[in-house]
Amino acid sequence: MKLIFENSSEDFDQHKQLALELNFEIVDVKQIDEIKSYKDTYFFVISDDRLFIKKGLNKNTKPIFSDFDTWLDNYDDKLLQNCLKTLPKKFNCLDLTAGFAKDAFEISKDIKCSSVHLIEKELWLFKLIENGIDRASLKDANSLLSKFRLTCQDNVSFLTNYSRKVDLIYIDPMFSGVQKALAKRHMQALRDLTSCESYEGLLEASLEKASDRVIVKRHKNMSYLDGISPTRSLEGKVIRYDIYSTK
Ligand SMILES: C[S@@+](CC[C@H](N)C(=O)[O-])C[C@H]1O[C@@H](n2cnc3c(N)ncnc32)[C@H](O)[C@@H]1O
Repeated sequence: MKLIFENSSEDFDQHKQLALELNFEIVDVKQIDEIKSYKDTYFFVISDDRLFIKKGLNKNTKPIFSDFDTWLDNYDDKLLQNCLKTLPKKFNCLDLTAGFAKDAFEISKDIKCSSVHLIEKELWLFKLIENGIDRASLKDANSLLSKFRLTCQDNVSFLTNYSRKVDLIYIDPMFSGVQKALAKRHMQALRDLTSCESYEGLLEASLEKASDRVIVKRHKNMSYLDGISPTRSLEGKVIRYDIYSTK
């Protein structure tokens, strides 16, 4: 990924620290003549308004970011909401694969949910979630986001040092090679920019730490994570949630 500042170099000092932390190549867009050759390149953009990523330099390219204000009312995952039924009052949740935090935000909408701790290994995603929280302006979105806590760390090492129990652990491993052409912008970006590594051992470790259930998101045609059969599954048109009861 390359990093650009949408505004003049005046902003550079202000954002220099972030640029150094992310360690992306900084590009001066004004120096680029042939924008077509960047059509498949992702840019991490620091604008006055917010942080976002975008694919290519075309003016019409839509920004991709953790858009909590929009997701408050325009995103509704009934299947995931159904997976949360019968969880205890004031349940807490660990989301071990935060991504853009869209699913974590959906979980936080459950009235019984008291906290969601999000783990994400990619620093650029961590920064997008953090900035998304800062920029959310709707009162109801802010009230849900107050349940969030963020950690930028590898989930296996996080779990290894996690000595407490948590009611719910949520895992959304990257799907490889399925429905690529149909993926929405956010999911396509995650596929293009994050590694599709093995999640071996993660489910087993999660089953030990979750006191009520572990939920794993899968494409409906995929086999169970690590070959471990769930207690039950809820299947939608494309997605399947595998629920592992640990009670
Ligand atoms: C399919 S995405 C999750 C999307 C997320 N549910 C959402 O709503 O945006 C999987 C995420 O897990 C992260 N991830 C993969 N391996 C990880 C690891 N070992 N530790 C922490 N995060 C990891 C990836 O960087 C990616 O952001």
